[in-house]
Amino acid sequence: MDFEKIKKLVKGVPYVLPEMASDLYQFIIKEKPQNCLELGFAHGASSCYIAAALDEVGSGHLTSVDLISALEWLKPPAIENLLSRTGLEDVVSVKREHSSYTWFLKKEIEQHTRNNICQPVYDFCFIDGAKNWTIDGITFFLVDKLLKPGGWVVFDDLQWTYASKLKEGKKKSGGVSMLEMGPDELNQPHIELIFQLLVMQHPSYSNFKVKDNWWAWAQKTDGDSEVVFQFSDGYRKKLAAWEIETGQKHRAPFQPYPK
Ligand SMILES: C[S@@+](CC[C@H](N)C(=O)[O-])C[C@H]1O[C@@H](n2cnc3c(N)ncnc32)[C@H](O)[C@@H]1O
Repeated sequence: MDFEKIKKLVKGVPYVLPEMASDLYQFIIKEKPQNCLELGFAHGASSCYIAAALDEVGSGHLTSVDLISALEWLKPPAIENLLSRTGLEDVVSVKREHSSYTWFLKKEIEQHTRNNICQPVYDFCFIDGAKNWTIDGITFFLVDKLLKPGGWVVFDDLQWTYASKLKEGKKKSGGVSMLEMGPDELNQPHIELIFQLLVMQHPSYSNFKVKDNWWAWAQKTDGDSEVVFQFSDGYRKKLAAWEIETGQKHRAPFQPYPK
């Protein structure tokens, strides 16, 4: 299915942003990953872009995982409705877990273990769920066991913080309470820390790319630790406007935190 068609079919459905929708679609067309995994699907908008690209490639499958409890707070459409609207049901397997996708990953590791060795099965994993050091830190190591050499992982929400949710009056995010977090745990972006301290330090990963300070890509392959920063025109404009309006300088990913 071409990009314009899927864009029309999922128009207005949160949460994937247009820039990421396009990047995900183009990535699948270029790299042709056959076995894809998405951790955190919400309504399934990003799942549909991935599935549409797999359909365009002519092969490949996506497994998408979320929480059973998300059905209670997410308004329609559900992922199943979107998949039937787009006719992409056969490309996606939908999984819902009680407490976390980490438990789904535990079952995958169990299922693919032979003679005490986990056989990697995925070519691509999109991590867009909890945004939490503990949950997504272990998620990275679990995904690593299942990711084939040469495979790719991408994290959403690189600079997202719990403090931003606290400002909106929330006390919990992704089922995790913020009430017992220290100031640094609230203010430092957990996904950025995971990417910098776990992914970039992992000897098997390189080809790091950060887009619009928000999406971080890494490939499971040998190489150096250089990071390529890419910016869309729209993001550059928004960032410049924010810096003028607030008189602040945006802290770039992996830079020291202000005292
Ligand atoms: C931002 S939404 C995903 C959006 C989707 N990828 C898109 O771009 O259209 C994050 C989702 O992650 C799910 N989530 C958060 N923590 C999770 C966990 N530990 N295990 C499974 N799903 C989780 C939430 O229920 C929510 O639906």
